Amino acid sequence: CGIVGVVGSRRTKEILLTGLTKLEYRGYDSAGILVAQPESYYLKKTAGRVAELKKLTDSLNSEGTGIGHTRWATHGEPTEENAHPHLSKSGRFGLVHNGVIENFEQLKKDYLSDIYLTGETDTEVIVEVVDYFSRQGQEGFEAFSSMLKVTEGSYAFALIDLENPEQIFLAKNKSPLLIGIGTDCHLVGSDAMAMIGETDRFVEIMDGERIILSASEMKIFNAANEEIKRDFYLAEIDANDTEKGLYPHYMLKEIDEQPSVMRKIISTYTAENGSVAIDEHLVEKIAKSDRIYVVACGTSWHAGLVGKKMIEELANIPVEVHLASEIGYDMPLLSERPFFIFISQSGETADSRQVLVKVNELNLPSLTITNVKGSTLSREAENTLLLHAGPEIAVASTKAYTSQIAVMLYLAKAIGDYKNLKLAKSFDIAHELGLVASAMDTLVSEKDKLAEISRDYLLTTRNAFYIGRGLDYAVSLEGALKLKEISYIQTEGFAAGELKHGTIALIEKDTPVLAIITGEDTASHTRGNVKEVESRGAKTMVIAMEGLQKEGDQIIIPELHALLTPLATVVPLQLISYFACLQRDLDVDKPRNLAKSVTVE
Ligand code: G6P
Repeated sequence: CGIVGVVGSRRTKEILLTGLTKLEYRGYDSAGILVAQPESYYLKKTAGRVAELKKLTDSLNSEGTGIGHTRWATHGEPTEENAHPHLSKSGRFGLVHNGVIENFEQLKKDYLSDIYLTGETDTEVIVEVVDYFSRQGQEGFEAFSSMLKVTEGSYAFALIDLENPEQIFLAKNKSPLLIGIGTDCHLVGSDAMAMIGETDRFVEIMDGERIILSASEMKIFNAANEEIKRDFYLAEIDANDTEKGLYPHYMLKEIDEQPSVMRKIISTYTAENGSVAIDEHLVEKIAKSDRIYVVACGTSWHAGLVGKKMIEELANIPVEVHLASEIGYDMPLLSERPFFIFISQSGETADSRQVLVKVNELNLPSLTITNVKGSTLSREAENTLLLHAGPEIAVASTKAYTSQIAVMLYLAKAIGDYKNLKLAKSFDIAHELGLVASAMDTLVSEKDKLAEISRDYLLTTRNAFYIGRGLDYAVSLEGALKLKEISYIQTEGFAAGELKHGTIALIEKDTPVLAIITGEDTASHTRGNVKEVESRGAKTMVIAMEGLQKEGDQIIIPELHALLTPLATVVPLQLISYFACLQRDLDVDKPRNLAKSVTVE
């Protein structure tokens, strides 16, 4: 979910709505705003998107103190009633919340036995608990603080006390929240992008702190109730980067940006003398570890699978790649000198963060590879490497995947160089990645052909299979995820050789099977698997690398270093998914049920 708030502006409504539009990547099941003036307020909510909310609030005045929310449903369906902000029954407090309250049933029993709650969300319990403490005679901020003392779980809260609507009260635990310093006002948001049109000056909020925000002041209290001062920092986001420009969809823009992102990574991570520009202390620390544990979710996990191969080959350190939601509760037997790498586009994913918290408790060394400077995972890990990919807005991740792989490649090379390993030393990374960028240029220019392939193979199908071996298998997992998440075609990625051990039973006449073939050693075996499914009626398609292609292959990838092929093969798969989604008339950038950044476990 996304939160935004403003105090002291004449354009509060506009700032809230613009902020919420920017935050829709965090969820878009429902949205709402509360705007308060000294004598009146309005609360508008919808089970639709922010565009709906805009229509609902068109004629309403803008000035005042406001909070807004865009939701990814956890407790309770995405109805108007369950949408935030939630107002307490007395009408005194309005609250927006991101996160999950773990003890809300208990809180209900302890404080609200005489109150009938209409919705199904944990948030409405919280706002009633604040109200309860105020009815015990506590002032607004005191009641808010008392609520925090009894609340367990993850949260970012922004609360307005309508009896004193010149302030917003804030607190966070595990969920992101940031203060923005406007010219005549203060802002708050789940991320900097939500406020970037208004300011580039931001103040961090730490877990356990409570804040009173007014137009001219910001009072931060730590857990010991001492007031503390904190300087602002300047964000380096360009507001234009968050716009679509002439593109119809963010996803298409982000796919097209990949060649230039590769070039940006080359220039950022290559030092003048040609060596890798990564802090030597970090490289040394990793080089001295005996096993690397990569932790990630979704597309970032898929990037980890590719990174494993690169690190093992160039740096000669064994790597395990774990799903964050699994390893957090099922730690494997760790090696003697483990090193943890967290891969996360947003740097906010709760599943990954809960693992990092445990890693920090165990005092183990860590690195976050992320696109978002200052994000939670970046702040809390010992080290950070940035992707420099520019904001990724479409829910389906594209340029983050390729940049994560490229940054891991630099890391692998740096470690291998440090250890004086021959393979790493002879690997001309800037040159090889330069070839990738050019290959990407070629592939993104083949849109018409890819649109046609997508129409031919995917327009009416209910399912599809992607197969490959080795790194091609890793990419088939990512390609399948891309297709299923935006076109809703049930698509599975499989190790090509494994298909015959069960899944081949699902192949029927015209079932689309897409094979990726870039490995010299495995090409003939995968070709064999293609034949096996063809003889059972499948409609097959091959993406092959130059030199390994055969007549009839649909997509040819320019020849690249064997470790780098995923960076190219994924591009046509991203575009095929994009066109499959368009051809089905679905929402490219905001597929159903998903959110870009999932800040609940
Ligand atoms: C969500 C997104 C995925 C993303 C995953 C991990 O589920 O929909 O596209 O891969 O989170 O996100 P992260 O920001 O940690 O890379």
